[in-house]
Amino acid sequence: ARVDKAGHKHFMAKEIAEQPGVLNTTLVNYLGTDGEITLPDPGIDFTAIDRLTMVACGTAYYACLTAKYWFEQVARLPVEVDVASEFRYREPPIPGRTLALFVSQSGETADTLAALRYCEGKADKIVSVINVPESSIARESDLALPIHAGVEVGVASTKAFTCQLTVLLMLALRAARDRGAIDADVFADHVSALRGLPALMTHGIDRSAVMQATARKLAEARDILFLGRGVMYPLALEGALKLKEISYIHAEAYASGELKHGPIALIDKHVPVVVMAPKDGLFDKTVSNMQEVMARKGKVVLVSNAAGIAEAGDGVWEKIAMPDCPDIVAPILYALPAQLLAYHTAVAKGTDVDQPRNLAKSVTVE
Ligand code: G6P
Repeated sequence: ARVDKAGHKHFMAKEIAEQPGVLNTTLVNYLGTDGEITLPDPGIDFTAIDRLTMVACGTAYYACLTAKYWFEQVARLPVEVDVASEFRYREPPIPGRTLALFVSQSGETADTLAALRYCEGKADKIVSVINVPESSIARESDLALPIHAGVEVGVASTKAFTCQLTVLLMLALRAARDRGAIDADVFADHVSALRGLPALMTHGIDRSAVMQATARKLAEARDILFLGRGVMYPLALEGALKLKEISYIHAEAYASGELKHGPIALIDKHVPVVVMAPKDGLFDKTVSNMQEVMARKGKVVLVSNAAGIAEAGDGVWEKIAMPDCPDIVAPILYALPAQLLAYHTAVAKGTDVDQPRNLAKSVTVE
């Protein structure tokens, strides 16, 4: 079927707006009415593995970095994550009882496919998280987990990212359950947090106008920093990637705690610093990082929930209030500001949002 913009100015805008609906489809395909998480045959025996190696490129790589926190914290499984182009040439040893997990929207990225082939005969099991079920990566895996995002046209990945995250979170929860690493009531809470995601994403998208107003200011900047801590660090990376891909503004992301080890030298009144930080257990640490930025006249854009914004106090340049949400699904909700700030900044600059220069949707060359 031909895919059109359905009244949106760009495919990227359409695909951002589609997220509540496609996430619902993703959930329906994995969540049973009994509250359990079901995987397609032949499934995965998580008691037969001791570690995970995750490999991907671009935005899919950031989905892996986010999932590392989930697999480690919820399922107590050690995780190694690498970009495919490094992994394949490094020839890393693959110990026994390793599950190799490849994430790719297209399922055709040359480096990711080569990394998968490297793992054949070495890893205990090869699993992929893909959007295109007929793709090479899907076909060459022992188990392919579709993300059900539908066709993604915009070169900058949006709905595929949140669907990848959702499948990876369900996989981490399933691993936790099978390995006896999670209490039944905590598991049930996380499953209901997942079920609440589509409505939460709708509320998040409703805040688009606030992000547009901030983006008009960001469009004036030459350099922008993104900061995040813990599971928000990969989201900061994704926010910076999206912004540079489509607005051509130089953007870098750092783990908030690394600010003092170098990037703080860049801060002055010309540098906006986007801080992705819902009020969680690490919020106080992030507030002190923000104060370090503001003391050097850096312009802080705080993306947080109402409680976080209230606590941050005066001196914050721009505030983007996100709906409250359970911590476990925060990275999925906070993908929205990463996407929408980049989108509105690019629109303000008048760039070609759906076909950014020098980039391809799927990179099938090395
Ligand atoms: C290209 C695209 C990115 C994508 C990356 C990985 O660089 O422009 O949006 O994240 O490839 O693609 P994949 O299809 O493997 O997820």
